[in-house]
Amino acid sequence: MEIFSLLSELGHEQVVFCHEPSCGYKGIIAIHDTTLGPSLGGTRFWNYASDEEALIDALRLSRGMTYKAAVAGLNLGGGKSVIIGDPRTTRREMIFRAHGRFIESLAGRYITAEDVGTSVSDMDFVAMETSFVSGLPGKSGDPSPVTAYGTYQGIKAAALEKYGSDSLSGKTVAVQGVGHVGYYLCAHLASEGARLIVTDIDQERVQRIIDEFGATAETSFIGIAGTPSTATLGGMGSAGSCASSVSGTRINQPAQNERPIDAPQVTENEADRDYSANFLGAWSV
Ligand SMILES: NC(=O)c1ccc[n+]([C@@H]2O[C@H](COP(=O)([O-])OP(=O)(O)OC[C@H]3O[C@@H](n4cnc5c(N)ncnc54)[C@H](O)[C@@H]3O)[C@@H](O)[C@H]2O)c1
Repeated sequence: MEIFSLLSELGHEQVVFCHEPSCGYKGIIAIHDTTLGPSLGGTRFWNYASDEEALIDALRLSRGMTYKAAVAGLNLGGGKSVIIGDPRTTRREMIFRAHGRFIESLAGRYITAEDVGTSVSDMDFVAMETSFVSGLPGKSGDPSPVTAYGTYQGIKAAALEKYGSDSLSGKTVAVQGVGHVGYYLCAHLASEGARLIVTDIDQERVQRIIDEFGATAETSFIGIAGTPSTATLGGMGSAGSCASSVSGTRINQPAQNERPIDAPQVTENEADRDYSANFLGAWSV
């Protein structure tokens, strides 16, 4: 991999590879652009198939954060970090404190918060080592509920555009990934009378949505899914390939050649709308 040509293609300022052998911490902090201010972006904890996959995710996510902060009108730049490993680990304090020390070494060029695989209690560990962390308990807290609300409003805006009404009552909405944000999103959708089709690699999370909101599970998707960065909407079976609109919380849209042939294409308008739909989380932290 030609790392510097990749950085120059995507426009990154700085990428830091971090290692703390005592606890097996391996992290990548990517700072995309600090023109508008210090870079903000959550920490993702994921079992990446390779270091290369982790790097690409960090690069794409941090670039997306630059766009998101700009669309949100925040005086912040774009950054993101990934921790490579099994997010079910019990060594969270050591890992997140190591992460915090590396963030501290950047002297404010990068500010972190929650993302996939991380929670407010992890940010508490980060805060033991650095003040450049947000989304802390007792302060701005978990950004997921407001992120979900913005996404819900984004879906309503899409419905208005497609159907002339923003009502989701009786409409079918497929939700891929029902973790922190997905759970609150399903709550909004269900309260408005939308029919839910949900999928997640964690069956307990799917079951919770079925029990609480009467959703239908889509299991055919699980087999072909990769990480959220490469997971594709076409895998949602009939729901994905028939979708008339695609909205979301993710900012690392897959490259065109990573999409299955029958996946609905995400247009530039839809991607822009996604930056707008999910920026409430960035605002809240
Ligand atoms: N937490 C926030 O406030 C926030 C803010 C802005 C954007 N986002 C974005 O929202 C998305 C969800 O974040 P979250 O904080 O809810 O993370 P989370 O870790 O709480 O939930 C993610 C869920 O996705 C599931 N998942 C992973 N890979 C999957 C796959 N291939 N198929 C189906 N399910 C899969 C996981 O099992 C998990 O339940 C991410 O793209 C994140 O970057 C989150």
